[in-house]
Amino acid sequence: MIRYKQQAAEMLTPLLDEDAGAVAESLVKPPRPEMGDLGFPCFQLARKRKSPPAKIALDLAEGLSPPAGGIFARVAAEGPYVNFYLDPVRLGEATVGPILADPEDWGSSAAGAGRTAVIEYSSPNIAKPLGVHHIRSTMLGAALARIYRARGWRVVEMNHLGDWGTTFGQLMVAYKRKEGEDPSQPVDVHSLLRLYLRYHAEAEAEAGLAGEARAWFKRLEDGDPEAARLWRIFRDESVKALKRLYDRLGVHFPEEGYKGEAFYNDRLEATLAGLRGRGLLKESEGALVVDLEPWGMPPCLIRKSDGASIYATRDLASAEYRYETYRFDRSLYVVANQQELHFRQVFKTLELMGYPWAGRCEHVKFGMLSFGPGVFGEAAATGSTRRGRVVFLEEVLDRAVEKARRLIVDNARSPGEPADPDGLAEKVGVGAVVFSEFLQRRQKDVSFTWERALNLHGDSGPYLQYTHARLSSMLRRYGKPVNPAPDWEALAGGSFKDIFLALSEYPEVMGQAEAENEPSLVAAYLLDLAARFNRVYTDKENHRFLSGDERLAAARLAVVEAIRLTLSHGLGLLGLAAPESM
Ligand code: ARG
Repeated sequence: MIRYKQQAAEMLTPLLDEDAGAVAESLVKPPRPEMGDLGFPCFQLARKRKSPPAKIALDLAEGLSPPAGGIFARVAAEGPYVNFYLDPVRLGEATVGPILADPEDWGSSAAGAGRTAVIEYSSPNIAKPLGVHHIRSTMLGAALARIYRARGWRVVEMNHLGDWGTTFGQLMVAYKRKEGEDPSQPVDVHSLLRLYLRYHAEAEAEAGLAGEARAWFKRLEDGDPEAARLWRIFRDESVKALKRLYDRLGVHFPEEGYKGEAFYNDRLEATLAGLRGRGLLKESEGALVVDLEPWGMPPCLIRKSDGASIYATRDLASAEYRYETYRFDRSLYVVANQQELHFRQVFKTLELMGYPWAGRCEHVKFGMLSFGPGVFGEAAATGSTRRGRVVFLEEVLDRAVEKARRLIVDNARSPGEPADPDGLAEKVGVGAVVFSEFLQRRQKDVSFTWERALNLHGDSGPYLQYTHARLSSMLRRYGKPVNPAPDWEALAGGSFKDIFLALSEYPEVMGQAEAENEPSLVAAYLLDLAARFNRVYTDKENHRFLSGDERLAAARLAVVEAIRLTLSHGLGLLGLAAPESM
């Protein structure tokens, strides 16, 4: 990739007594385009050399002459700055050339080679359909996994299912009652939901039911075969339904990634022994806790007074398992803001247990998803499955697809187009919902509206998909293979520089997204790239983009292809399809 900043620094270095790295650091972006593309401020040097900054700038500029055919057309002093002006033609060549020469590789790097990231995400409580809010962890985590992988990391994706707990006892009670009425009842995720609702309706009237549910869960914990059989069925059905949804979202955990809370059952004793061995366990009202008061946190609950192991203990056991198995360099937990304290407690406890890798664990937290009034009625606002007032992810996707289908049909230029409206509606509808997850930094709350999500001309997934489809259609109309080395001079005086600059920044943006665990940076980048292209495309100077001079068309189409590749790659990272036509 082109590194014009380094090149400017290398030109300056012989004139200063600093190394190129430090010089590159001090280069700034001038406030206005007519002041060049990079500026070197001379204030510091002025103090050192006891001479006015403007004079220093003049002296430096005098000593610099950019080599002919290089990336810089001109270097000039302006006030206290030495400004560098990129040559747009060379910039195009240096940016687009390598992308087209190796399109498969565009967006990949080896930055993370040799390092392992465990990324845990989605992690729903199962035995009921997935609520819409689960899309946040699912899409953020899947995007991070793709970004890390593209940057050369070994990535292990984990789904810490909530597949153990009294809910299962409750379902068993309701199932057994239903069995009395209908012995051959089939089980799927929807009937599980009905069982769940039935249990809670009946439990309100029947005081004894909660005790029955606890008793069933106890049987499960004690290894009772009937309880274990039912648990297995409930779990398998839930996972099957989950996978159908994940498929629609383009999310694929490897089979070994499905390790829910139950998986750690037979490791809890060892974890407990480790805590005890370090003298960390304290008794408190019959329960076992780790005291975290010196760190300003409430105690971490390890075992309840009735002997039940709990959430945090399973997180300690799973962290140990993950480290033993994968020797991670980073271990990410993509989980909502609300669990901040929980993870601080868990990570601190791991540290107290003496694990040197405790500091590699990171809670990648995110804000809430809410719906504006009228999007889904009141249901979404309460989000309580128990009252049957939760919006399920599947419903949201279906609704989005239906709306996208209407949008596509209304937008079609001629009847019979597009060829496969259903397939396209699925991509655009799901893409609209998914992209909403990336519109803002993850810790901000997301307020979802259909208008925004499906706006073909605003900051939305469909807008990017539409731009991608338009670029693809231009390439089809051009009808010839794209020349990766066109005559770049044809674009001299054109307005492509902004696009070249943006393209050259893509790898850096991915690096930043990795460093901050922030896929929204990729989304913002893609929106900006698309906007830059649309500005050039609608510019009068460029009308009749494809026709006329073949030299010009070839160079323009090379740029179009580079943008298309970038959009397609970036959309893929975020989990959106990039349709060829729309
Ligand atoms: N199942 C939990 C929930 O739905 C989230 C699990 C988060 N991951 C973890 N390792 N604790 O709230």
